[in-house]
Amino acid sequence: MSLVVFVFILALASFCQALENGLMRTPPMGWLAWERFRCNIDCKNDPQNCISEKLFVEMANCLVTDGWKDLGYEYVNIDDCWMAKERDAKGRLVPDPERFPSGIKALADYVHSLGLKLGIYGDLGTHTCGGYPGTTLDQIEQDALTFAEWGVDMLKLDGCYSSAEYQAKGYPRMTRALNATGRLIAYSCSWPAYQGGLPPQVNYTLLTNVCNLWRNYDDIQDSWDSVLSIVDWFSKNQDVLQPQAGPGHWNDPDMLIIGNFGLSEEQSRSQMALWTILAAPLFLSTDLRTISQSSQEILQNKLMIKINQDPLGIQGHRILQEKSHIEVFLRPLSNSASALVFFSRRTDMPYHYTTSLAKLNYTQNAIYEVQDVYTGEIISGLKIEDNFKVVINPSGVVMWYVYPIRNLDQPFSFLNQLYKRDTKKFHPFPL
Ligand SMILES: *[C@@H]1O[C@H](CO)[C@@H](O)[C@H](O)[C@H]1NC(C)=O
Ligand SMILES: *[C@@H]1O[C@H](CO)[C@@H](O)[C@H](O)[C@H]1NC(C)=O
Ligand SMILES: *[C@@H]1O[C@H](CO)[C@@H](O)[C@H](O)[C@H]1NC(C)=O
Repeated sequence: MSLVVFVFILALASFCQALENGLMRTPPMGWLAWERFRCNIDCKNDPQNCISEKLFVEMANCLVTDGWKDLGYEYVNIDDCWMAKERDAKGRLVPDPERFPSGIKALADYVHSLGLKLGIYGDLGTHTCGGYPGTTLDQIEQDALTFAEWGVDMLKLDGCYSSAEYQAKGYPRMTRALNATGRLIAYSCSWPAYQGGLPPQVNYTLLTNVCNLWRNYDDIQDSWDSVLSIVDWFSKNQDVLQPQAGPGHWNDPDMLIIGNFGLSEEQSRSQMALWTILAAPLFLSTDLRTISQSSQEILQNKLMIKINQDPLGIQGHRILQEKSHIEVFLRPLSNSASALVFFSRRTDMPYHYTTSLAKLNYTQNAIYEVQDVYTGEIISGLKIEDNFKVVINPSGVVMWYVYPIRNLDQPFSFLNQLYKRDTKKFHPFPL
């Protein structure tokens, strides 16, 4: 082999191994149509809820007027069933002309004019899951270019009607195709959700180099059972999954269903808390035009969002499963802070759970302050060996933001001076 060819292969190899688009340094936040609006294309009988440009314009408007955008919910994402049933004469994807009469470019322009971003959906295979045109291997570059020309900011690439071999070729090829368009387009892969296995038979090293986020497991449905099945699967596989998440590359347990029909208020708080512990993308899939005040409060909790968006981007995990059916989850955060979720799987009544930070393996001999993420209540002066009690409702959570305010081993250390001075960093979070 000549040196020139060898160097060329090396260059190709290193190119294949980098997703260096710089996007999604913290988990993405926004709105995604699928769970709530599915493949409802019946605009004649259900014009308010069908997949059409009107729906996305209205959701974008809500994101701005109801305070979502200011909190970081910035993506407006289209899912399946936006396309016409056939590609155009030049082989390009086109939106359904009746439901998207202005076209995707106009929708992207509108969304951008509001300071938001537009996401779109495709499928690596012969058809999308809903039966619309898929992206076959030889159409990858053309579709990437179409999305870039329209001004799309994110692509979710599903994997119906394809094969493992096909996906192994196609997902990395789309990474290169998106990069080659020159437009920054975040890339969500459904690849591992189609691979399965326990532990998952997925090359996560490759995946983190190819995708900004990936769906690991089944689609979420509008039920508490579905939320629990996802939490169970993520917990069971946490040793494999947890190390893969980080700035620019995230595990995606799927959309938030808060605001819909399947969850009680306790369960809604639980989904939000557990998704935040998992450093999960926060994609709302609910009707923002009619969402209740209480659901909105859960989804707009500022301290929750600050924890979800922690710059270290470390995914948390389940640290304890008690015989009492209480589970404890922990996520390490920047500035020596952490988040704890006490989760009850009980079905009887509020449970009084007593523990200490030492029992949860906190080792830093410090005085801690704790803020309850939902009530805003502050507990000061907690030492690691101090017992405390939390009262957790059935299928509910208590969530704590925990931060050291004084290190007891080194009373005169630089760190303690820092803790004292930097009141912004260590001041309780105004709710
Ligand atoms: C394409 O990838 C290179 C690194 O391989 C990166 O520097 C560049 O920013 C990427 N461009 C886009 C548009 O993603
Ligand atoms: C996983 O992917 C990485 C990066 O492409 C590669 O170096 C490694 O050999 C792969 N591992 C397996 C087991 O295939
Ligand atoms: C604490 O650490 C010990 C020893 O590593 C481990 O066996 C135990 O499961 C840990 N407990 C928690 C709650 O993390």
